Amino acid sequence: MWEFAPLRIPMIRRLQTLAVSHFVFCFLALAATCTLLTIYITLFTSYWPITTAYLVFLFLDRNTPESGGRRSEWVRNWSLWKWMSDYFPCTLHKTVDLDPKRNYIFGIHPHGVLCIGSFTHFSTNGSGFSHVFPGFTSYLTMLPFWFKMPFFRDYVMSGGLTPATRKAIKHTITRPGGGHICCIIPGGAPESLNARPGDVVLLLKQRLGFLKLAITNGVPLVPVFSFGDHALWEQKPNPPGSLIRRFQDSSQKWMQVALPVFHARGIFQYNFGLIPYRRSVHTVVGEPIEVPQNSNPTSEDLMSLQEDYINRLRAIFDEHKSKYLPEDCKLIIN
Ligand SMILES: *[C@@H]1O[C@H](CO)[C@@H](O)[C@H](O)[C@H]1NC(C)=O
Ligand SMILES: *[C@@H]1O[C@H](CO)[C@@H](O)[C@H](O)[C@H]1NC(C)=O
Repeated sequence: MWEFAPLRIPMIRRLQTLAVSHFVFCFLALAATCTLLTIYITLFTSYWPITTAYLVFLFLDRNTPESGGRRSEWVRNWSLWKWMSDYFPCTLHKTVDLDPKRNYIFGIHPHGVLCIGSFTHFSTNGSGFSHVFPGFTSYLTMLPFWFKMPFFRDYVMSGGLTPATRKAIKHTITRPGGGHICCIIPGGAPESLNARPGDVVLLLKQRLGFLKLAITNGVPLVPVFSFGDHALWEQKPNPPGSLIRRFQDSSQKWMQVALPVFHARGIFQYNFGLIPYRRSVHTVVGEPIEVPQNSNPTSEDLMSLQEDYINRLRAIFDEHKSKYLPEDCKLIIN
């Protein structure tokens, strides 16, 4: 039976659905749309001088993403992001105050299908980041590949996004004066293949890069758990070894893009579509782990930090899960 959205819906709920649709469209199709339009305009229309000038700018501006990007507090403060945050709603919780004279690395788990929590909290002001962490500027990292896409890159940079490269992360965490937070999603796109209602499955044991960056720069590391982010869409079962998973793993390897097969609801009906469910997301920022600076960490140093990190992350999960998740939901760390 098809279940349609009622015709009489308060305007604010329509705006929330619009904002989420905009995000899903941007995530899935905006980069390709921008790239194809730029090629088309340059080759086949008389507006080619505009796109050609832009491509020259793109070349001259090629180092900007890795050196802090080009954020716009105005874009981050758009009502669009507040509507998006209120759709679920997304709530940002802190457990301790951080010192605005220092820089931090946030490790955010899980990725979820389209990183709704991480994006809303850390690359927009939609859930009130500037109130929760006064004096801080957040930089969310994302696959470097996206920063090569014309126009799309400028849009994502306006939210404060930077590439997930060693150089860009180092730039953020070594900024003088403190107050800079580099937000990393260690599980990355491969973790999105595990996102579905049920247990939370993280990819973390092989992820040493962010730990190494924390040690070599002596920057405190903060575990962050985003409750509910994994359950916003359904995803076709893809156990390891299945045909669909083998295809996803090879596309991941060759194109760096994860291809989760997900669905939830549509804009006008509740049975099928790419719009996520209206389910709350609670993102809990834990206590910082002090990491003494060490330019040449051994693998034992990394492993011992990893153990500490995983224990702290589990502690956040255990302490808050009964408030935010169904009772039988387990945390599995691979
Ligand atoms: C951000 O937007 C809110 C309303 O949406 C407004 O009250 C606030 O002043 C804005 N902040 C800045 C710094 O412009
Ligand atoms: C962030 O949003 C809050 C409202 O939730 C607003 O009061 C504040 O001024 C905004 N901050 C910035 C930097 O836009």
